[in-house]
Order: sequence, then structure tokens, then C-alpha cells
Amino acid sequence: MPREIITVQAGQCGNSIGSQFWPQLCQEHGISQDGNLEDFATEGGDRKDVFFYQSDDTRYIPRAILIDLEPRVLNGIQTGPYKNIYNPENFFVGKNGLGAANNWGDGYQTGELVHEEVMEMIDREADGSDSLEGFMMLHSIAGGTGSGLGSFLLERLNDRFPKKIIQTYSVFPDTQNDNVVVHPYNSLLSMRRLTQNADSVVVLDNGALSRIAADRLHVQEPSFQQTNQLVSTVMSASTTPLRYPGYMHNDLVSIVASLIPTPRCHFLMTSYTPFTGANVEQAKTVRKTTVLDVMRRLLQPKNRMVSTIPGKKSCYISILNVIQGDVDPTDVHKSLLRIRERKLATFIPWGPASIQVALTKKSPYIPMNHRVSGLMLANHTSIATLFKRIVRHYDTMRKRNAFMEGYKKTAPFADNLNEFDEAKEVVTDLIAEYEAAENADYLNPEGDKAAGEAGDKRIS
Ligand code: GTP
Repeated sequence: MPREIITVQAGQCGNSIGSQFWPQLCQEHGISQDGNLEDFATEGGDRKDVFFYQSDDTRYIPRAILIDLEPRVLNGIQTGPYKNIYNPENFFVGKNGLGAANNWGDGYQTGELVHEEVMEMIDREADGSDSLEGFMMLHSIAGGTGSGLGSFLLERLNDRFPKKIIQTYSVFPDTQNDNVVVHPYNSLLSMRRLTQNADSVVVLDNGALSRIAADRLHVQEPSFQQTNQLVSTVMSASTTPLRYPGYMHNDLVSIVASLIPTPRCHFLMTSYTPFTGANVEQAKTVRKTTVLDVMRRLLQPKNRMVSTIPGKKSCYISILNVIQGDVDPTDVHKSLLRIRERKLATFIPWGPASIQVALTKKSPYIPMNHRVSGLMLANHTSIATLFKRIVRHYDTMRKRNAFMEGYKKTAPFADNLNEFDEAKEVVTDLIAEYEAAENADYLNPEGDKAAGEAGDKRIS
């Protein structure tokens, strides 16, 4: 039974990423630009039906809803080379076509107006699934549509489908150099929904993406198209265990469960190696790819697609490495031992200190010039430093009440600015949660204290 996933793409960033993700999945599964299975795609063993369904004329159609409040990116998709694979009924463009003016409040209030139409599309897709596992949202949290309308939809999805998993691929702004001045407001407001309404958030930070793209491609200022190739590669790799299933980690719930031991700490970082010409144009070639090399590189902070500042106590809560290619399981075992001996990864003191590994097949239809590639999905406490940075930038702007007028004109802020204060409280609590997770008594602070007191009494 397939465990289907419906993808919801919101805003310019979400749809631009989607426009690279779907062609990549098509190529990996041997699906043509029109949705037909290529003659050579006979190997099977893959599960196309997680992300695609077959139309009456047997073409493969993405389970994707494409939403934007301005038409430019969606027009590009509808006239691009893959225009025929999408279900034309699954495009939603805002009536006035003006976007959400980089204002979370604007995107959120538009959500109130359009949600019936959008939820109808989502319901239709959900009804067309045999065993829906959940939703994947692609968006940026810094603008107005992906962040504001995205937040609204996360709430609605949670209400309507409380038992389904909601995973997001959320692009965070480059806090040093973002083109949206009010990104701290929009990010903070979105973070509240990502904390309260998503089960798992894959954090992709534009600062780190540009740094990695620049390093791999030798360009000073990589274009979105180039950074989106990195994101699309990460998305494709993180979904290979679902699309080429093995015995373990073969559905979203098992991946999420293995990475997220406590529900609130559900923000994940990723690293991928090697980026080669097969996934990123102009990438440097990597000479040697053994399992150990790949696992070692995945742990290097410079390869993480999130820029954080690890503190003395920062540690991994969990790691899942998705290793693809021609791999002998004993190599995996040896590499894990070596990494443990060398103490290359520090784990939380209150849980199992081990790297989990999913060995998966690679698409037989994409030529590969390296033996092994790997993706790390990691839950690391230093992600809280990214959230602190957002709060700090937010505080600076809020103190001056900068650019507040635009927000006050929108429904969520018409009466008061409580929405901001509540969002800040949620994010501050989240930061405290990650900091607490660095302590041995995280799971039972009161219990341990009581046990300690009892012990003291016995001694006296
Ligand atoms: P409105 O434009 O206000 O309607 O909202 P939107 O959600 O469409 O805005 P957008 O997606 O452009 O969000 C702005 C943020 O996303 C900024 O931080 C941009 O740097 C970033 N961004 C925009 N497009 C892309 C993209 O294709 N790739 C990446 N990685 N980031 C993007």
C-alpha cells in the first residue's frame, strides 16, 4: 500500500524550488516531461505512487498543489518544459495577482479569504489517495505568501488532518543580507506555526545555501536557480527511503520518529555530499567517495545547510544518514565505529548516542560518477542559535516600531499587536527547550531533583 504524500508549494520560493524538485523526481523515476513512463524505465522496485498518481491516460501526475498570490513563477511553470505533468486544477493564483507585499499579515488574511478554494484542492488530492501519510510544504518564511498564507494553511491542515504528518522544507532568510527588510517579523510569526503546527521542519538557510553554492560552483553570488538545485537535491535524497523502500525508514512516520524524540524539538538540519555535476551544474568533482569519507564530510559544520554557532554544550539529538550507492553494509558498520572512536559527533546525554543509517538505492536512470553519496538529516541543539538571531533582529526592529504600519492594516493586527508578542513567546520557549535538551535531566528535571533529595535524606 503506498503511503502517499501531498506537496503544497506556497509563494515564489516554494514554487521555484518545486519547479526543480519535480523534474528531478521525474528523471529519477524515468518519467518523461509529459508524464509518460520512458521505454527504458522498466527496472521497477521504486514507488512512484508516493509522490505521483496515474491519470486515466496512465500519465504520472505529481500530487502537488501550487499556490501563489502573484502569477510570475506559476506562469513560468505553466509554460516551462514540464508544464504538462501538473494537474491544471491544482494551480491557485491570487485574484489581484499582487502578491502579499512581503507582509505576513497580508498573506495570512488572504488565507482567510481563499482557504475554501485551496482546501478543496487539498481535499480532492487527499480523497484520491489510498493511504495518505501526510503533507510536505515548500515555502520561504521571510516574504508574505509562503510565510503568511503558509502559516494559515499549516493551521488548517493540522485541524483538518490531525493524524497526518506535516513536514515542511522551510527556507530561512540570510539574516546578513536578505532582500526583504522585514524578514525578522515574517520569520518570527511563521516560526510560531512551524513550532505549533508542523511535525517536522527541514530548515534551509539561504545564507548557508549561498555559501555552499559559492564554494562548490566558484561564483560570488549564486542565483536562486543554483541554490535551489542544492535544495532539490536534499529533498530528493531525503525522500529516497520512501521512493526506493528498504526494510526500515521506509515511510515518513518512521523517519520523523527516529529523528524527533520529543515533539517540540522538530527542526532538522541537513548536509549533502558530494555535490557533483549530476545534481549541480558546474560542481567540483570529488575524487574519493568511500562510506567513511561521506559520513565524515556530512558531519563537517561547513557542509550544513544552516549557519549556527555551536556552543560548548551543543550536541546532536539524533542523526539519520541516508547513504546511496554501491555500499557494503560492513563498510557502514566500520565507518560508524571509526566515527565513534574519533568522537566526531557529540550526542545528548539522555538518549542513544548513535548515528542511524538508511541504505537506499539510487535511481538507475541517472548516471553517477561517484560510488557513494550521502545526506545527513540531523537534529542538533545549536539550531537554537539561528532562532536567537531571528529574535534579536526582531527585537531591534520592534523597538523602533519600524515598518509596523503595513502590518497594522492587516486583519491579524487590526486590533492589537498581540500576534507578535505571542509568536515571540513561542520562539523564546522553543530556544529554552533546545537549551534544556543539552542537559542530562532534560526528560525528567523534577523527578531527578526529587530523587536527588530522597538520596540526600537517606545519606543523612
Ligand atoms: P510575497 O512576495 O510577499 O507574495 O511572498 P512570497 O512568499 O512569494 O515571497 P518569497 O518566496 O519571494 O520570499 C522571500 C524570501 O524568500 C527571501 O528571503 C528570498 O531571499 C527568498 N527566496 C525567494 N525566492 C527564492 C528561491 O527561489 N530560492 C531560495 N532559496 N530563496 C528564495
